[in-house]
Amino acid sequence: MPGAAGPALLVAKGIPLNYHSNEMSYVEANIRPALANDARSIAEVHVGSWKTTYTGIFPDTLLESLSIDSRERSWKETLAEPRLVTLVGCDAGDKVVGFICGGAERTGQLRCDAELHAIYILQIAQRQGLGTWLVRRFVRELRSRGFTSMAVWVLVLNPFRKFYETLGGHTIAEQQIERGGKAFTEIAYGWRDLSWFEP
Ligand SMILES: CC(C)(COP(=O)(O)OP(=O)(O)OC[C@H]1O[C@@H](n2cnc3c(N)ncnc32)[C@H](O)[C@@H]1OP(=O)(O)O)[C@@H](O)C(=O)NCCC(=O)NCCS
Repeated sequence: MPGAAGPALLVAKGIPLNYHSNEMSYVEANIRPALANDARSIAEVHVGSWKTTYTGIFPDTLLESLSIDSRERSWKETLAEPRLVTLVGCDAGDKVVGFICGGAERTGQLRCDAELHAIYILQIAQRQGLGTWLVRRFVRELRSRGFTSMAVWVLVLNPFRKFYETLGGHTIAEQQIERGGKAFTEIAYGWRDLSWFEP
């Protein structure tokens, strides 16, 4: 059982210290704004986390078609866009293991001025507090830019959607989307007042 092994044993086995360890959790210092040269690392996290999250939900053909190279190209564009906020979460060795990205709400229909477009963390770093810190730092950045409310879309089938409920999000909308030729339902969680996140 990896969680029961001492740190020296984990390192000897080449296993990151935070692997399934309930004692080791992420802190705010693990988070920083993304830099232009993070595009490759973010793309790797994006594709890796998509595969572990959506296997058995999205068609295999869609997941098999994901390309780190093409994600890297689109992340280069995203990171060059000053109206978007992108933060990364790094492990103790400074390797990017998660990211969050967003900006203005895209539909104009949700009565929220900001939108969390994407948050993905590698499976190995999940459930150790990193997602919560990423959202908190992201919200602080949004508020410093004058945003007051926020929405995020999530698949109804996503097993992680309770994360947003833990953070105080309420269901505010629903929509149908298509992925890999199949129809899916998404719901939007909303926070009407971002001051909710203040300590
Ligand atoms: C969703 C995600 C960003 C959450 O980040 P995280 O670092 O794993 O979550 P945290 O450790 O901060 O979790 C905080 C709390 O949220 C709740 N939570 C998180 N994931 C959950 C899950 N899968 N099921 C139920 N509750 C969950 C728990 O209450 C958790 O506290 P606990 O671990 O002490 O019980 C991350 O797990 C992830 O990247 N998942 C896969 C990709 C994904 O679904 N992204 C969202 C797409 S819209």
